[in-house]
Amino acid sequence: MKGLAVVVLAAGLGTRMKSSLAKVLHPLAGSPMLSHVLLSVTRLRPDKVVVVVGHQADKVRALLPDGAQTADQKEQLGTAHAALTGLKRLGRYDGTLLLVSGDTPLMTAETLRRLLDAHKKSGAQVSILTASPAEPKGYGRIIRDGSGAVKGIVEEKDASPAEKSIGEINTGTYCFDAKALGKALKSVRAENAQKEFYLTDVAAIAREGGGKVLGVPTDDPEEALGINSRADLARAERTLRNRINTRHMLSGVTIIDPETTYIGTGAVIGADTVIYPGNHINGDTVIGRGVALHPGNVITDSTVKDGAEIRGYSVLTNACVDEGAAVGPFAHLRPGSRLGRGARVGNFVELKKALIGEGAKASHLSYLGDAVIGKNVNVGAGTITCNYDGFEKFQTVIEDDVFVGSDTQLVAPVRVGRGAVIAAGTTLTKDVPADALALSRVPQTVREGWAAEQRKRKAKAKA
Ligand code: UD1
Ligand code: CA
Repeated sequence: MKGLAVVVLAAGLGTRMKSSLAKVLHPLAGSPMLSHVLLSVTRLRPDKVVVVVGHQADKVRALLPDGAQTADQKEQLGTAHAALTGLKRLGRYDGTLLLVSGDTPLMTAETLRRLLDAHKKSGAQVSILTASPAEPKGYGRIIRDGSGAVKGIVEEKDASPAEKSIGEINTGTYCFDAKALGKALKSVRAENAQKEFYLTDVAAIAREGGGKVLGVPTDDPEEALGINSRADLARAERTLRNRINTRHMLSGVTIIDPETTYIGTGAVIGADTVIYPGNHINGDTVIGRGVALHPGNVITDSTVKDGAEIRGYSVLTNACVDEGAAVGPFAHLRPGSRLGRGARVGNFVELKKALIGEGAKASHLSYLGDAVIGKNVNVGAGTITCNYDGFEKFQTVIEDDVFVGSDTQLVAPVRVGRGAVIAAGTTLTKDVPADALALSRVPQTVREGWAAEQRKRKAKAKA
């Protein structure tokens, strides 16, 4: 088969991460590191993708796009061994093979495309994407001859002081002629400082066999960042954050402080939305146009429609806020909550599976769970739906135009008919018909002068 096959190396644990989680699973901008690599790869529309898996293979497998295959590398003997494992999975493939590392998540599809084009045009057996970062330490160095042709790659741990002073590094991203790679891999030996089978040795082997080896420099060394430690992870996070935020700003979103605005790769945000510092927008969140996200919200897998306002320090998970509605400050919208057009929930209001009708308000200190609340309902301060009896959850239904007085408890299941009024302090245990008044209160007693007498008596006892 001709065309394009991609092999992604993702079997290592990543010892330098000092983690029980496999390196490629560590999250970046809310998605596992490997997902970013796979996204760039998918954009090239390859005919085949093989991911070499080892550590936590099942979790890695769960991230793969449709049609991608895995190859199990039981023991991690080095990148050459990993490449061979991937190559075997491709069977008799003899076309172009792009090989990328699962730990270079900043690599863009455009750069991969440039490498591919250069490789195809040159007729090389091996093309290496190279970079010249400010800090080349830790990477393999590119050794070129007097004419500038690539002679080979030397790993940091095997490099002489002179080689260490070379600024051009191996990004760990290559194009190969699959057949030539298969042949070269046979000659790789683990005779080096790390006693590993180095894929990088393939460069010198191909050249010695008369093949052409090409070094293709990137113009953006940041893309080459290989994640080996938590410090690298934080740096990649920063770069990614900057990229994502720039993309949104270019499409018309105001971000007051991009350094402290955390938007996941999957988020969609409309023009003229203003995002204040400290917002976290995660997962498949969709924010409409002209939305205001005041400081400090955490919004995950939610929809916030045009002109809505999230007034700060609010947490929304799997929730929907319709046009012109307002949330917070300090509100908590839990899964299954929906706020109708122009509705409002204020400070210290928690919703769970609660549908709040158009124009309805719950402005202060309430818990509304398993509830359907109609249009223009006013939910007074301190209203609680008692939805749980210790065994099961029950529904509360409040129809349109109801007025719920402050400090009301609605013991579910219960239904309040349209236009009814619930007096403040009521504990509602029975349904209320439309337009009725419901109240449950201990009648008030007043004892004239009681407090004054009490004070006098206490004073006398002291004397
Ligand atoms: C590698 C390159 C180095 C380059 C750097 C770029 C080699 C020998 N060195 O070094 O020249 O500058 O990448 O980031 O290739 N992996 C497996 N199976 C294995 C070993 C590794 O799947 O047996 C995977 C790892 O999970 C990782 C990738 O291959 O995703 C790279 O391995 P890593 O150990 O990080 O290589 P580096 O030392 O960074
Ligand atoms: Ca690495």
